[in-house]
Amino acid sequence: MVGGNWKCNGNLAFAKSFPAEVLNTLKFDPKKVDVVVAPTALHLSTVQANTKNNVHVATQNLSLTGDGAFTGEFSVGMIRDMGVTHTLTGHSERRSLFGETDQDVAVKTKIAIENGMNVMVCIGEQLEERETGKTDEVNARQLQAVADELSEGQWGNVVVAYEPVWAIGTGKVATPQVAQETHAEIREWLAANVSKEAAATVRILYGGSVSDANAAELIAMEDIDGFLVGGASLKPAFH
Ligand code: PGA
Repeated sequence: MVGGNWKCNGNLAFAKSFPAEVLNTLKFDPKKVDVVVAPTALHLSTVQANTKNNVHVATQNLSLTGDGAFTGEFSVGMIRDMGVTHTLTGHSERRSLFGETDQDVAVKTKIAIENGMNVMVCIGEQLEERETGKTDEVNARQLQAVADELSEGQWGNVVVAYEPVWAIGTGKVATPQVAQETHAEIREWLAANVSKEAAATVRILYGGSVSDANAAELIAMEDIDGFLVGGASLKPAFH
């Protein structure tokens, strides 16, 4: 799977031109690779209308609430009504800038899955946590919150996006070895705490300064099953 996360970027013209110029020209086998693009909620329907079927459009977030008096939110029912099948949850910017807790992320993940969606759950450590040897502990804590909400079977609709926070938007990509080691730990955690089947089938994406310059050596790693791309997903290099 390759996901593009536009974050809070883009405008109406871009939401029309990027599908036409980049997304619709991608050459890939949809039986082998899922390509997912997550524009802002404002631009989602424009991107949807201009993108061919084999690229999935995703939300970057969803509400903990249902429909009702929740100003500024959008519910999973609305997302589904728009024909959207994929979403991110737990992006580090949601966690660190908008106060989402492990529990919020886990409940959002559950709400999305119970409503038939596929979820890219983002996890990952801060620089200080990496430097003090806490990476595996942080990933395990974030995953455990999700595991507490989901049944084993629901992991079939989960993709884990491992995004070390120090690598996001910094140009400091994790080396293939560092990323591989951490992905292998995540897979072991899934085997020990969810099931062997989940460990074998859940895709683990790497995210954090992925670009056309480093994607090939990262994807060569055994436990890296794809990418979640931020900055480079807004450029023709998303190809
Ligand atoms: P980046 O962002 O590729 O710009 O580092 C990745 C992400 O936040 O998903």
